[in-house]
Amino acid sequence: MRVTCRINGTARTVDDVWEGESLLYLLRERLGLPGSKNACEQGECGSCTVYLDGTPVCSCLVAAGQAAGREVVTVEGLASDEGLDPVQEAFLEAGAVQCGFCTPGLIVSVHDLLERVPEPSDPQIREALAGNLCRCTGYEKIMDAVRLAARTRR
Ligand code: FES
Ligand code: FES
Repeated sequence: MRVTCRINGTARTVDDVWEGESLLYLLRERLGLPGSKNACEQGECGSCTVYLDGTPVCSCLVAAGQAAGREVVTVEGLASDEGLDPVQEAFLEAGAVQCGFCTPGLIVSVHDLLERVPEPSDPQIREALAGNLCRCTGYEKIMDAVRLAARTRR
């Protein structure tokens, strides 16, 4: 089937999409957007998180066909010609990136949190990121990055 949707602000059309194909596969393997990571393909880790019509979703659990006519924003789409998004900058500055596998999904989830709650408490941060697993950092640097991003965006 043919799937047409907007990805990071640009209309994209992909042919010969298989009915069982995931949005994550479409992004990574067909459109050359490797930012969203495939760590579990079961909706458990959050490394594949993208915005779908403004709502964060695990793209490994969304069929590519479900994205037809909709707006997808990946971690690549959060940066602009002016540079990285403040959340992306904060992860780098706070040292919250180790292997980096969890980072793209975390950045999308943190971006969404700060859009909804510009000054989140620590419990609010932990709750918002409960679906994003990190095996490397112990989460403290990630917490630092979220607090830093919240300050920078103000
Ligand atoms: S790869 Fe999608 S939730 Fe883990
Ligand atoms: S930095 Fe390695 S899984 Fe989070």
